[in-house]
Amino acid sequence: MRQKFKPWAKPYILENAQYDMFSETSITKYHHFTHHILEIGMGKGDFLHAFAKSNKEIFFTGVEVNPNCGAVAMKKCIDDELENVSFLIKDAKELIICEELGLKFDVIYLNFPDPWPKKRHNKRRLTAPIFMSLYRTILKKDGKVILKTDNLDFLEDSLVTFSSLHLKILSVDRNLKISSEPMSAYEMKYRSDGKTIYKVEVMYAEDIENKH
Ligand SMILES: C[S@@+](CC[C@H](N)C(=O)[O-])C[C@H]1O[C@@H](n2cnc3c(N)ncnc32)[C@H](O)[C@@H]1O
Repeated sequence: MRQKFKPWAKPYILENAQYDMFSETSITKYHHFTHHILEIGMGKGDFLHAFAKSNKEIFFTGVEVNPNCGAVAMKKCIDDELENVSFLIKDAKELIICEELGLKFDVIYLNFPDPWPKKRHNKRRLTAPIFMSLYRTILKKDGKVILKTDNLDFLEDSLVTFSSLHLKILSVDRNLKISSEPMSAYEMKYRSDGKTIYKVEVMYAEDIENKH
């Protein structure tokens, strides 16, 4: 879905720079919480907003490269005066700085990422090896990546990537009937269109090995 240009979006993000995940305010807030959830490619933030609103003891961070979507997501949370949120309105690659800053997460959600079906675009996928290696550096021990998609080819390709990187596949649901978490905008749309929803949970194998 092409996002409409919103002239207020970039100024709004700048005016609310204290919500940037790397601002001093957000880093201080991050350390007040013990449980941290990251959503990458949050779109207009329906999932993040609903999840953060009903779980105020958890700190949520939403990443979105498109400022026209990211600003809408921020506004939903800021209008509701949520104190347990921060944002990165940039490419997910920028998360590389998290390791240096000691910012780590219990769960990373990838809700309905763009499937980038053309082979030459595969490396843009949020489950491409370069991103999966980055996530390893920002997950806490025993942390998980949770992927939801409606796209079977994307699911199968992602499972191949996970296996090739020796990730431990904890579960694969090939017909997710009900979500335990709030639904994202895409999940709502795909469910109302009657599409099948797939969900995968993975963790990094060395975390499991270290338990024994
Ligand atoms: C198909 S939409 C899904 C939006 C939302 N997660 C949902 O389920 O409703 C994918 C979103 O991921 C964002 N995205 C794609 N690549 C990204 C990247 N490298 N870094 C941050 N966001 C990205 C896109 O801009 C888009 O808003």
